[in-house]
Amino acid sequence: MTNIVWIKHASQLATLAQPSKGPRIKDDMNNISIIRDGSVWIEDGIIQAVGTTRQLEEQFKDRAHEAVITDAKGHLVTPGLVDPHTHVAYGGSREREFERRLQGATYMEIMNAGGGIHATTTMTREAKEEELVQQTKRRLDSFLQHGVTTVEGKSGYGLNLETELKQLRVMKRLQAEHPIDIIPTFMGAHAVPTEYKGREEEYVDYIINEMLPAVSNEKLAVFNDVFCEVGVFTPEQSERILEAGKKYGLIPKIHADEIEPYGGAELAAKVGAISAEHLLKASDEGIAAMAKAGTIACLLPATALFLREQAAEGRKMIDGGVPVAISTDCNPGSSPTTSMPLVMNLACISMRLTPSEALTAATYNAACAIQMEDKVGSIEPGKQGDIVLWDIANYQELQYLFGVNHVRSVWKKGVKVIDRS
Ligand code: NIG
Ligand code: FE
Repeated sequence: MTNIVWIKHASQLATLAQPSKGPRIKDDMNNISIIRDGSVWIEDGIIQAVGTTRQLEEQFKDRAHEAVITDAKGHLVTPGLVDPHTHVAYGGSREREFERRLQGATYMEIMNAGGGIHATTTMTREAKEEELVQQTKRRLDSFLQHGVTTVEGKSGYGLNLETELKQLRVMKRLQAEHPIDIIPTFMGAHAVPTEYKGREEEYVDYIINEMLPAVSNEKLAVFNDVFCEVGVFTPEQSERILEAGKKYGLIPKIHADEIEPYGGAELAAKVGAISAEHLLKASDEGIAAMAKAGTIACLLPATALFLREQAAEGRKMIDGGVPVAISTDCNPGSSPTTSMPLVMNLACISMRLTPSEALTAATYNAACAIQMEDKVGSIEPGKQGDIVLWDIANYQELQYLFGVNHVRSVWKKGVKVIDRS
């Protein structure tokens, strides 16, 4: 039997649909295509029709009795949010480091002393695959509760072949077992593991000669990401790793210019990365190079807040023609949150995006940053029925009434997975 969901009478249905293809730039980021008294018809998980309620009542007048109807009167309806940058599959937690940072230690000092990413690497290496599945599943449940229906997930807490593969297999399993779509990224170049200290080039060779072939062989990742940062991987090392990944069909991403300016934005444009992440300290030349190359800036304002740093220059990037996406960066050290609504608010407050730009950055452009825009990121016929119904009336309130979870119902592929009505 066909499973039909009909959401009707939304006071604002923000479809995010536009005729153009590819990530949105400049003023197109403000166009979120709102239908008043909007309606969506979903059949077996796929959106079949979108329009005003009156249009859909006419179109489906003979089949209305087949549908499970939700009356969205008084509510905002949007596409499921997309989080294009997470480190969701990790073991343990690091709340004690938070206290140390508040007492004055910096993020890099803690990492260089064997904490930070290294601490999580130890805990992830020690965790059994089943434990990692359970911990990650809890975080994915929390994403869903905050209206997120698709996430990217990185490895990078194994830093050896065995544990990198374990993290990626955990994500593959959850892709099958959890309603959320998880798009996997290999990030063996998240840090140089302590056992390779002083032998950084050897670790780069290990990534290139052993990890990349194994990851590709098992088809465990779509993207290849590098932490290009002073004291982690140099731009030269990063380029070698990303170029090597390309030979295996892995698309480059870069953690760029997060802590110090280091030419990461320029490198992203040069290697044809789909996106560059963080960019707190990106240079004007780097931003211009990204605009020219069409590299998506994936900005992480919750990380900047949590590290007590100035956020990236999102306003300047949009005005300069860079397509912008936003993300939680969900990870145990610099941003332990699953709240994309908070990130949308911070995009407005700390980067001066408009509420509609923030919504575009958290849906359609975020989908583009993980090559999922043909399936998710907007409400259009042919796409997955990934929908959020919010307990508020309009899109401005979504960014304005902050720090509160306004999710009322979530559908993933046409199945209601959250119901708080
Ligand atoms: O994106 N900057 C590098 N990696 C992560 C943090 C990882 C961690 O602290 O565990 C980030 O912020
Ligand atoms: Fe990150």
